[in-house]
Amino acid sequence: MTALRWLARTVAPHHRLAKAPGSRRPYYAAPELGLHGRTTIAIRLAGLHPVVSLLRGRHVLDLGCAEGVVLQEMLKGGPASGHGVDNSAERIASAKRLHIDPRLHFDVVDLNRTTCFDAPVFRQGYDVVLMLGVYQHLAAASRPIVLRRALERCRERFVLRIPRCHIERIDPSEIVRNAGFAVEQAIEPERGEPVTIYKRVAP
Ligand SMILES: C[S@@+](CC[C@H](N)C(=O)[O-])C[C@H]1O[C@@H](n2cnc3c(N)ncnc32)[C@H](O)[C@@H]1O
Repeated sequence: MTALRWLARTVAPHHRLAKAPGSRRPYYAAPELGLHGRTTIAIRLAGLHPVVSLLRGRHVLDLGCAEGVVLQEMLKGGPASGHGVDNSAERIASAKRLHIDPRLHFDVVDLNRTTCFDAPVFRQGYDVVLMLGVYQHLAAASRPIVLRRALERCRERFVLRIPRCHIERIDPSEIVRNAGFAVEQAIEPERGEPVTIYKRVAP
């Protein structure tokens, strides 16, 4: 068998099957931005207004940022920088295309990899870390580990949103408290899912 045939028969099919992680579809429904997903921006920003006022001069990390719409909104609070990560290469490509403010940058990161925070793309620390609607998507085994690592990087405030339908099953509040945080605000927006702002109270 020629080397080319061998390659076609053995390597290529596996390569096709080894699908990259992360959705290829847009997340937000915002036709004006060229996004044809299922979730409106208004519903995703519900409950986040109090966060904006905490951001002046802060370095912000958004875990599972999709197309970066939340970080774009957070610019209203005057942060020093905003870093969005998501495992969807397509969503990160859209974020880079849509949000060109020099304070914002975006990277493809798979949060299911428990060592992901060792990657050089991350700052040593962030003042504010957002984990909005992503915790429930992580693999059960990596979820608590990745949460602890994210909390280690978080100096001031950790903002968590978990859909009501998942909270009982995967409630991470004990992990967050044990990492030195206390609830500062629990926000129940009229529409959308609850948001909890935790404040660091211990090193
Ligand atoms: C429900 S959406 C929330 C988007 C945004 N945070 C918001 O609240 O509007 C969840 C996002 O997490 C991303 N995600 C899911 N699993 C992930 C993983 N293992 N690593 C990184 N991002 C992930 C998805 O691609 C998606 O963009």
